[in-house]
Amino acid sequence: MAKLFSPITFKSMTLKNRIVMSPMCMYSSDNKDGKVTPFHMTHYISRAVGQVGLIIIEATAVEPAGRITSGDLGIWNDEHIDGLKDLVNQLHEFGTKAGIQLAHAGRKAQDEEVIYAPSALSFNEKSKEPTALDTPSIQKVVEAFGSAAKRSEQAGFDMVEIHAAHGYLINQFLSPLSNRRTDEYGGDRNNRFRLLREVVEVVKQNFSGAIFVRISADEYHPDGNTLGDFLFYSQQLKDLGVDLIDCSSGGVVPTKINVYPGYQIKQCETIKQEVNIPTGAVGLITTGIQAEEILQNNRADLIFIGRSLLKNPYWAKAAADELGYTIEPPKQYIRGWN
Ligand SMILES: Cc1cc2nc3c(=O)[nH]c(=O)nc-3n(C[C@H](O)[C@H](O)[C@H](O)COP(=O)(O)O)c2cc1C
Repeated sequence: MAKLFSPITFKSMTLKNRIVMSPMCMYSSDNKDGKVTPFHMTHYISRAVGQVGLIIIEATAVEPAGRITSGDLGIWNDEHIDGLKDLVNQLHEFGTKAGIQLAHAGRKAQDEEVIYAPSALSFNEKSKEPTALDTPSIQKVVEAFGSAAKRSEQAGFDMVEIHAAHGYLINQFLSPLSNRRTDEYGGDRNNRFRLLREVVEVVKQNFSGAIFVRISADEYHPDGNTLGDFLFYSQQLKDLGVDLIDCSSGGVVPTKINVYPGYQIKQCETIKQEVNIPTGAVGLITTGIQAEEILQNNRADLIFIGRSLLKNPYWAKAAADELGYTIEPPKQYIRGWN
């Protein structure tokens, strides 16, 4: 049996296969109110029809100031729950589990007048200078993640992913490149990890399903977090009860990244082996054979697919064909599937 099409369980969530739709912002909340639109329904449901095991809804802002753009999805208000619930119910119709990525953009928010970060350091020369969060404001951010987790539960999500990667707010706290604080949220790695620890704890209090955390496990900068730091963070996350580390990279500071097939798998494999925690591999994984190799060699437990699923909602079917494996279509498609 192809491992790519074998089930796996995290807490009470059993996935029918190892294929995950990687969170991808669609900037399509057209009324700038963070609500789900018909586009989101079509976009995500087609990938569920295409037999993806788990769909993680794009970075969804826990507060308005945490949006990358005003078109981002939001979960800062109870009014967001109904649209998300409809979407979750539709994904479940096709046997796909539903996740949501909870996010705060911090200094990478593009449309806000006032933007926030651990320290008053802008991302690059073109971006606004952020306001350094004071301790009460950090607590408000933590509470916003807690309320967002509660709404995720109310909407029926099977899992949430905390976005601690790509140079957004939590990543800004983790990295010495963007965190120059001298209080208990800055300095050594234990202090830089404090915000993520508090966010995981508050999410756990408000959400009963599986919890994944996405990290940028390489900052491509000599003064950034080291692999040793990422192993430390991953061990802390495991001890906190996090179910999986989703291993991405980059985004904290502008740098050139050498991108090639599977370019982020080395860190993913090291974290899995050293910390003994399930990991998700992502980044230019484009074929079933490549995905199967990663799983069979125990380099990751889940395969996150981004752009290949934008190109082809039936990527799972193409991968199964490649591996000589048969997957069941939704009943409506039986006559055209094999
Ligand atoms: C259009 C687009 C939007 C994205 N938005 C997000 C996002 O909301 N959250 C996130 O963690 N990564 C985001 N990413 C990164 C993807 O999840 C994925 O990690 C990346 O594209 C590499 O995987 P791939 O080579 O399979 O595309 C985005 C990528 C694309 C192409």
